[in-house]
Amino acid sequence: MARPAGKSNNVDAAHFVVAIDGPSGAGKSTIARLLAERLGIDYVDTGAMYRAVALASLRGTPLDSQMEGIDVDLDGSRVLLNGEDVSGLIRTAEVTKEASRISQFPEVRARLVALQREMGARKSVVMDGRDIGSNVFPDARYKFYLTATPEERARRRTKEMREKGMDADYAAVLADIEKRDWDDSHRAVNPLVKTADAVEIVTDGLGIDEVLARVLEIIK
Ligand code: DC
Repeated sequence: MARPAGKSNNVDAAHFVVAIDGPSGAGKSTIARLLAERLGIDYVDTGAMYRAVALASLRGTPLDSQMEGIDVDLDGSRVLLNGEDVSGLIRTAEVTKEASRISQFPEVRARLVALQREMGARKSVVMDGRDIGSNVFPDARYKFYLTATPEERARRRTKEMREKGMDADYAAVLADIEKRDWDDSHRAVNPLVKTADAVEIVTDGLGIDEVLARVLEIIK
């Protein structure tokens, strides 16, 4: 496909960024990971970076203006907090809640956005999050907005939790998703928005393979 006009972040044709944004539970990370694999480039899970900062905050590290004492990095699928692999500690309900809170702080966002820009400047990446196409890489060569109705996302999440042997109440999961949607799209700094140049894919009723095929069709 010809590169759309005005997409200039990619001076070098071989270097590009794929931005995937959307609300929580839309399947972004699954698609982003598979897509990166298919394209042979790195996947950057920016949500995991906010989660690592949330864990640091829960452990008592102050989130001051310089974010001193908090070093977040990604190494393949591992998330590192000051060199410690915290991948297994950042998916709890407590961290999810704290991540939602600290992702509103301008200092936190400024620091993580700077890191994300460095990552995408060094190499081609698939990066997923909330503000990648709107703020981190507004010139990304490809932008996708992956979404699904709150009900569909709540159904998937409930099923996933039950498969893991966890208790899951559909109404509570739905309420939680609706609250996070509201928080993500109403925060003052870099809220979740669908930019005019992003390709929207509504994943209700679509399997992972179908979504991946649509994305690849647009990129090829
Ligand atoms: O996608 P996730 O659930 O792992 O994201 C964790 C939190 O971080 C969630 O509250 C949204 C926030 N987030 C953000 O504000 N900006 C991003 N680019 C990625 C995630």
